[in-house]
Amino acid sequence: MTIDAGPATNGTPAGAPRQRPGYDAETAARLAADAAQIVARYPHPRSALLPMLHLVQSEDGYVSRDGILFCAEQLGLTAAEVSAVATFYTQYKRHPNGEYTVGVCTNALCAVMGGDTIFERVSEHLGIGHDETTEDGKITLEQVECNAACDYAPVVVVNWEFFDNQTPTSAIEIVDELRAGRPVSPTRGAATVGTFKEISHVLAGFEDGRSDEGVAAGPATLVGLGLAREQGWRAPAMDGTQDGEAEAASTVPNPYGSAERPPTTPDDTDPAGKRGPAGEGATAEEGKQ
Ligand code: FES
Repeated sequence: MTIDAGPATNGTPAGAPRQRPGYDAETAARLAADAAQIVARYPHPRSALLPMLHLVQSEDGYVSRDGILFCAEQLGLTAAEVSAVATFYTQYKRHPNGEYTVGVCTNALCAVMGGDTIFERVSEHLGIGHDETTEDGKITLEQVECNAACDYAPVVVVNWEFFDNQTPTSAIEIVDELRAGRPVSPTRGAATVGTFKEISHVLAGFEDGRSDEGVAAGPATLVGLGLAREQGWRAPAMDGTQDGEAEAASTVPNPYGSAERPPTTPDDTDPAGKRGPAGEGATAEEGKQ
């Protein structure tokens, strides 16, 4: 079997034709032991493909050619089937990733709160664009579509750990710290950020013992819950009966009071006046600095 494209992980120079690729015996044995644990979680081996791809990323820093063949062999799939999945999801990297993936959200809410500006400034500062990696191999920059943390827009993630309410200045400070080898602290979750390989191993389903570190849901996320408790609101009955739903719905007050739609103006949504205009000053406090 001859494969002649892409960087190898077993010492073969990039671009050079080589025979049957693969991990060295020690690495293959270690990965096979992990793979056996992953496969055991599923009724069919092929169902384990997604965590298996994270596993090979934890070894190579991306889904390498060797990783694809390893997954195929372990799961009884063809290399084409594995590649088809690996190329579908953006979390799987097809070329060597940096030690830290810095994802700047530029989806609608983060964009209007300054996400576009953050991405532009960080990109300019690092001299790289989307899905590119700094020469020192430290940072891969990504423009991402919603980090599922809209209540803290604009949001930046580093290896999927949240850094809330960012500004261009604070985001540049984060990447500078990472490149200098100093730890950075996410706003929520673990106290520090693991490397891309370390986090990939966690995503493969192997706990690192840090899942309970830090704050999980911050105050902004819990505002609705607090309001519901204060007002005595309850969710509709879940028994599937029409009567139950109708009865429950009739007892749930309109969360917007007498208004027919949710408030949309900055004043309505931000009674505390904490937020400023989109752009460099994402908060009123920062805008004064
Ligand atoms: S729009 Fe940025 S986190 Fe949702």
